[in-house]
Amino acid sequence: MQRLQDRVAVITGAAGGIGMATARRFAEEGARLVLADLDEEAGQRAAQEVGGIFVRADVADEDDVVRMFATAYDEFGSVDIAFNNAGISPADDDSILTTGMDAWRRVQEVNLTSVYLCCKHVIPYMQRQGKGSIINTASFVAVMGSATSQISYTASKGGVLAMTRELGVQFAREGIRVNALCPGPVDTPLLRELFAKDPERAQRRLVHVPLGRFARAEEIAAAVAFLASDDASFVTAAEFLVDGGISGAYVTPL
Ligand SMILES: NC(=O)c1ccc[n+]([C@@H]2O[C@H](COP(=O)([O-])OP(=O)(O)OC[C@H]3O[C@@H](n4cnc5c(N)ncnc54)[C@H](O)[C@@H]3O)[C@@H](O)[C@H]2O)c1
Repeated sequence: MQRLQDRVAVITGAAGGIGMATARRFAEEGARLVLADLDEEAGQRAAQEVGGIFVRADVADEDDVVRMFATAYDEFGSVDIAFNNAGISPADDDSILTTGMDAWRRVQEVNLTSVYLCCKHVIPYMQRQGKGSIINTASFVAVMGSATSQISYTASKGGVLAMTRELGVQFAREGIRVNALCPGPVDTPLLRELFAKDPERAQRRLVHVPLGRFARAEEIAAAVAFLASDDASFVTAAEFLVDGGISGAYVTPL
């Protein structure tokens, strides 16, 4: 499918699992890509693989965010898709009783302030074009509580969800769609390593997933490509859950 032929897409956190899988999918669908990440080496490698441009950017830094979208516009003449995906979940963000202000603030900056900055600085391009699709990465934890808390992460993703809804409504009649992607747990190398060491920890989570497994990054990327494309022309201000059924489940199949 070539649903994104010649669309210009900016992906943040593009060197990571979901970002890179999405970069590959967008490239297959014909998009022109600007990949942004803090990690210069992995970002350059990713850009080379998909034939895109790499911009080293800290998404929590306003000047970097402005430069990132300006690069896309200057190189390609439009900014049609923004996948605001960069995010962190550090180990020192844990129960509210043990999480300190440093960890709280860092996670809010990278996960929530970044989405505010990216939307603030991409929307003017889209207003001038009269069209655009923004996909902000939230999480299933924005709609469900967890006893294995990462309190700042959860609060940041709830913020992403509420902000996305509001922007989707505010800019709907200007041709700009804004949707929140809520992935369930993704099978990443880090997660696999953690769970290989601790099968009980894995089982505690897997029992809640009706599909009985975690997502592959490519499955998340397929949902992003849908939201980015005109196939989703009537989808905006949505909480787009791609979670293997977790959020709908009470008792799961044996
Ligand atoms: N993996 C999951 O199970 C899961 C589930 C739900 C939601 N999410 C969300 O999906 C998004 C991507 O997750 P992932 O699993 O691909 O993570 P990942 O750690 O594989 O990739 C994240 C990327 O973001 C980059 N990054 C971190 N801080 C940055 C900053 N300040 N500026 C620019 N880039 C920065 C990292 O260098 C990395 O390349 C995140 O927002 C995450 O919270 C992930």
